[in-house]
Amino acid sequence: MNAPDPAVTRPMPHVMNTYGRLPIALSHGRGCWVWDTEGRKYLDGLGGIAVNTLGHAHPKLVPALQDQIGKMIHSSNYYEVPLQEQLAAKLCELSGLSAAFFCNSGLEANEGALKIARKYGHDKGIARPEIIVYEKAFHGRSIATLSATGNPKVQAGFEPLVEGFVRVPLNDLAALEEVARTNPNVSAVFLETIQGEGGINASRWEYLQGLRALCDRQGWLLTPASGLRTSGPASSPT
Ligand SMILES: Cc1ncc(COP(=O)(O)O)c(C=O)c1O
Repeated sequence: MNAPDPAVTRPMPHVMNTYGRLPIALSHGRGCWVWDTEGRKYLDGLGGIAVNTLGHAHPKLVPALQDQIGKMIHSSNYYEVPLQEQLAAKLCELSGLSAAFFCNSGLEANEGALKIARKYGHDKGIARPEIIVYEKAFHGRSIATLSATGNPKVQAGFEPLVEGFVRVPLNDLAALEEVARTNPNVSAVFLETIQGEGGINASRWEYLQGLRALCDRQGWLLTPASGLRTSGPASSPT
């Protein structure tokens, strides 16, 4: 079957035009394979931008979701949610951390982390806490997270940006030391350990070790942007 013609665009006039789209409409998937509305099959290398980690039509996930939706679709956080606690306990066990915060998107996770970083600063007596962020990082498209993002293209047209960020290059411990020397208002470091949108830029292992030591020395929070993803015990350096 022929590949889709990129010159053919199917307009979506009722959906707000916030993204450029490829001329492909996906209709269903199974595992790591997806099919478009014209029957073409693709290997799904995108995974919904790395969120479909179990693949499509997972044989355990689908009946579990159907079962829950058949019982109750939503109860709000005004009530106890025993299954939520059960999942949080599992996440804590796997990550080695003490509690989970559930949210709807990457940017909401980052907003939550930025709020924790500011609150931590206030609790330490810093009236206007500042957060170290990185050149070329991407943190989302809400006003606070696009301000933390290190890409002027994402920010253009949405100024004034949220203040309270100090930007440094990745893998440059001297730049961090300089901030430590000159800025007493820093409360946290907000790090996308492997930058995706900014190119595939990985934090070096020695940099992470130096950063960890500096945060301990300075009393700064070290916050992994978009939460913590781990493929093994929390002590593993992967
Ligand atoms: C590193 C990173 N942080 C945050 C986000 C924002 O996540 P969401 O689109 O779920 O708000 C993205 C999205 O691509 C991302 O790649």
